[in-house]
Amino acid sequence: MTSLEVRGLVKDYRLRDGLRSTRLRAVDDVGFTLDHGRTVALVGQSGSGKSTIARLLLQLERPTAGEIRLDGRPVARRGAGLIRYRRLVQMVFQDPFASLNPHHDVAHHLARPLRLHHPELSRADVDARIRHLLERVQLDPAMAGRRPHELSGGQRQRVAIARALAPSPGILIADEPVSMLDVSIRLGVLNLLATLQREEDLGVLYITHDLATARHFSDDILVMYRGRIVEHGPADEVILNPKHEYTRLLADATPDPERRFGPAPR
Ligand SMILES: Nc1ncnc2c1ncn2[C@@H]1O[C@H](COP(=O)(O)OP(=O)(O)OP(=O)(O)O)[C@@H](O)[C@H]1O
Ligand SMILES: [Mg+2]
Repeated sequence: MTSLEVRGLVKDYRLRDGLRSTRLRAVDDVGFTLDHGRTVALVGQSGSGKSTIARLLLQLERPTAGEIRLDGRPVARRGAGLIRYRRLVQMVFQDPFASLNPHHDVAHHLARPLRLHHPELSRADVDARIRHLLERVQLDPAMAGRRPHELSGGQRQRVAIARALAPSPGILIADEPVSMLDVSIRLGVLNLLATLQREEDLGVLYITHDLATARHFSDDILVMYRGRIVEHGPADEVILNPKHEYTRLLADATPDPERRFGPAPR
C-alpha cells in the first residue's frame, strides 16, 4: 500500500555557453500523487521534463526545490530509509538494449536485486523466485541462462520488468517503456504491465508521448508543457474535454477510431 507524492518540485540545470552560465528550469513547480493500484500517465512533448521527473523520483538527482513523500513521510536520502525507498520505487527504462548488462545472463540480472533486497533468501529460494519472475513476465524460465544479445527487444524489456518486480516494489516508473520496441509487440508489453499493476496493486507512472495508450492504460493523465503540469484529470476527461490548448493539439494529433472515417456524408 504505497503512495508517492510530490509537491512543488523544481529542477534547474546550469548550462554553460562559453563564459556565460544560464539556468534552465526543466521541472517547474510540479505536484501530483501516485497511489497504489493506480496508473498515472505523464505525457508531453520532447524536452518537457518527463524523464527529469523520473530521475528525481528515483533519487538519481536532487531536486532544486520541493518535496517527495513516500507514504506521507519525506523521503530518506541516506541509510536504511534510502535502501527501503530504492526497494519500493522501481524503474523500467526506455532502452532495453542499454539497460541490461551484456556480460551477464538473465538470472544474474534478477538474482542481484533479489539478494540485495531480500538477503534472507537461500540460494534455492533465489532460483525459485527467478523462475517465478520469468513466468510472471511470460518468458520461458529456460531463458534464465541467456545473455541479453540472445534475446529480442521485447524479451529484454520483459526481463527489465521482471528485474523491477524482483524487490517487491510498490511503485513502478516506466519511462517510455515501449517506444523503442517494434510496433507489433508494444501492446503486448503494455498489457503485461497493466496485468502486473493490478495483480501487485502497484502505483505506476507511465511516461509517454502517446495519448492513445495513455488514455487506454491510465486512470489519470498529467500533461506537461515546458516543465509545468498544464492539465491533470481522469484520462477520458483530459482527452475528450481538454482545457489547455497544448493538450488539444496533442489530442488532435492522436488518431481516434470513432473519427477515422471522417464526417458522415450528407
Ligand atoms: N543533465 C542535464 N543537464 C542539462 N540539461 C538537462 C539535463 N537533463 C535534462 N536537461 C534538459 O531538461 C529539459 C527536460 O529534459 P527531459 O529529458 O526531462 O525531457 P523529456 O520530457 O523526458 O523529453 P523526451 O520526450 O525527449 O524524453 C530539456 O530541455 C533537457 O535538455
Ligand atoms: Mg524522456
